[in-house]
Amino acid sequence: MRHIMVMNAKGGCGKSTLATNLASYYALQEVPVALADFDPQQSALDWAEDRPEDAPAIPAVAAFEEGLRAVPRGTEVLVIDAPARTHGRELNELVRRAETILVPVLPSKIDIRATTRFVAELAELGKVARQQARIAVVANRIREGTIIFDELDAALRALDVPYVATLREAQNYIRAYSRGLGIFELPEYLAWPDWEQWGPLIEWLDSPRSRP
Ligand SMILES: Nc1ncnc2c1ncn2[C@@H]1O[C@H](COP(=O)(O)OP(=O)(O)OP(=O)(O)O)[C@@H](O)[C@H]1O
Ligand SMILES: [Mg+2]
Repeated sequence: MRHIMVMNAKGGCGKSTLATNLASYYALQEVPVALADFDPQQSALDWAEDRPEDAPAIPAVAAFEEGLRAVPRGTEVLVIDAPARTHGRELNELVRRAETILVPVLPSKIDIRATTRFVAELAELGKVARQQARIAVVANRIREGTIIFDELDAALRALDVPYVATLREAQNYIRAYSRGLGIFELPEYLAWPDWEQWGPLIEWLDSPRSRP
């Protein structure tokens, strides 16, 4: 089973949004996927509960309570939603559970600084240093043409980890979440710009570069 964890110690940067959309993407590809929510806030679990009957099923487990015991047998991809404010030992424990780590980042000075520190903290973990886990960053809630986006873009390029996608700020993410869906399950005329932006991220996840 492959474990893809979405994490950043910074709150509100889009971890649950990325995790739920990624799970919906794999479900649509008919890959046996499940979601594990390590956050007692339960955003990923709530989303999975709201999924319509006719959408491809995504089992979701309350990992913050019971770890990964309840992940169904036969799961090929486990998408893990991590809580904010994870550092030190707790961070180490979480990272032990994944080979691929996605770090979303918002275009704001506070988030850029916090994430730069977080990525440095990740890099120091034994598992990451030994290249047993691969990390990538994703710019999220982007508005093209803003100065702060240019600043974020430059900061992410300067990091030592791949910068694999730029996702725009869009109501589609809010709309999809509230219906238990991903943007890939919204109508094409609404969501095609978002589908295009996910292209490089999916490509990275499909490539050997995202695995140890
Ligand atoms: N690309 C986007 N466009 C518009 N809204 C977005 C986008 N990404 C995330 N959001 C919204 O931003 C808010 C925070 O996103 P989300 O809950 O995914 O972040 P998080 O990192 O999981 O937060 P927490 O640290 O609290 O777990 C949510 O209201 C979400 O709907
Ligand atoms: Mg969350």
